[in-house]
Amino acid sequence: MKKVLVFLMTAIMACSLLLTGCGGEEKKAEPAKVLRVGTEPAFAPFEFPKEGSSELTGFDVELIQAIGKQLGYKVEVSGMGFDALIPALNAGNIDAAIAGMTITDERKKAVTFSDPYYTSGLIVMVKKDNAAVKSIDDLKGKRIAAQIGTTGEMKARSVEGATVTTFNTQDEAALELKNGGVDAVIGDLPVMEYYLAKGGNKFAMTVGEKMEAEQYGIAVKKDSKLAAELNKGMEELKKNGEFDKLYKKWFGEAKK
Ligand code: ARG
Repeated sequence: MKKVLVFLMTAIMACSLLLTGCGGEEKKAEPAKVLRVGTEPAFAPFEFPKEGSSELTGFDVELIQAIGKQLGYKVEVSGMGFDALIPALNAGNIDAAIAGMTITDERKKAVTFSDPYYTSGLIVMVKKDNAAVKSIDDLKGKRIAAQIGTTGEMKARSVEGATVTTFNTQDEAALELKNGGVDAVIGDLPVMEYYLAKGGNKFAMTVGEKMEAEQYGIAVKKDSKLAAELNKGMEELKKNGEFDKLYKKWFGEAKK
């Protein structure tokens, strides 16, 4: 009986030693670093909801996900107004903004940008039956729509005598054109082209040349070291071919 007891006690002790031993060696998984990313998600093909879902997709979304993965971040993308992105960065509510955002000197005063990742430009869109407007020069004194806080809005405001109306999204600006509330929309060329290709060409067309060579960059809080980190991740994706693959997937051709 005594022997059995001793045996049992030893067994229990051995077990608990083993257990604590195991527990001590168990590696605590590092919680994944989270990269909180903001965007304005009505900007196809750069950021837009997947059909029938609230999940976002597009070139920007897949690019930041790939960069994040490269750097060991769990990427969380949330949508907000385009004009809310820079304030959200400054308030520390998001770590980065990727939203087809043009790198401008004005914005550089408020935020820091990554290296450019896409070359864009502005274009004028009018109704298909509008034979009078051939370029931005024909918009003097006319009614122009643009997305609020964008370079398209700034361009529209530079047109002499024009009445400029701003909208929360590019799509709403286009709808205003369709409804006859404005004579033209000024916005980003790749987004307008996508819109026309997806059915917008039933009522609208672009006119004139692409205006200004604009570069898109990822914005982070002013002077944040995150910009250099994102650049490093993007460099890796360029080296390993993933960047080109994404570019081809969304634009059907290699980056020029
Ligand atoms: N490239 C333009 C700008 O930076 C328009 C960007 C709009 N982006 C968006 N996600 N709605 O002003």
